[in-house]
Amino acid sequence: MTGGLWVTFEGGDGSGKTTQAGLLEEWLRESGRTVVRTREPGGTEVGNLIRDIVLHHRGDIAPRAEALLYAADRAHHVATLVRPSLERGEVVIQDRYLDSSVAYQGAGRVLDADEIRRLSLWATGGALPDLTVLLDLDPVAARRRLDADDKPFDRLEAEKADFHARVRSAYLSLAAAEPSRFLVLDAAAPIAEIAAEIRDRVTSLWG
Ligand code: TYD
Repeated sequence: MTGGLWVTFEGGDGSGKTTQAGLLEEWLRESGRTVVRTREPGGTEVGNLIRDIVLHHRGDIAPRAEALLYAADRAHHVATLVRPSLERGEVVIQDRYLDSSVAYQGAGRVLDADEIRRLSLWATGGALPDLTVLLDLDPVAARRRLDADDKPFDRLEAEKADFHARVRSAYLSLAAAEPSRFLVLDAAAPIAEIAAEIRDRVTSLWG
């Protein structure tokens, strides 16, 4: 994609994506850039309908159907919002993109990570961000920090912890495979420190 700049934020739930996306947006606006702030699932009217299904539907959704719903949201989002904004030379700051599908749907163990990635790339005509910020956080440590009483996990909690550990390691493998697209930061570091590293990388992209 030419013109503009496309930055996506990835990481586990509660890793601080929204806070950092907000700080980056503020800094870019202050320096006079036009910024479009968006997210997946969602970001468009159709996307919000799909978001409602994937996040709030009670009961199961077959894994392939779920993967297709995220891909459908993504296809519409890129075609109608992301690509036109970039073509106008704007900056798009986005919470979650295809790496979320690979990490989360792949961690469900039913679908193959490469297939999920290919599906998303097909859906978007191969669109990849200029920069993907991965806010990396150990999910067990994050949870322990929140837990006042350090009691052991029950079975369901242990399963959830295992899922989040798989999501985290999938993210780290994606970042290792594409080091020039990814910036991996320790989400436990101070907010201002993380924000400064992101600004530095964005500045270097504009070189
Ligand atoms: P959201 O409400 O955006 O919260 P947050 O990003 O703060 O965690 O939740 C989005 C959820 O959707 C999150 O649990 C990850 C999941 N997700 C997928 O499983 N696949 C995807 O392709 C995307 C974009 C999100």
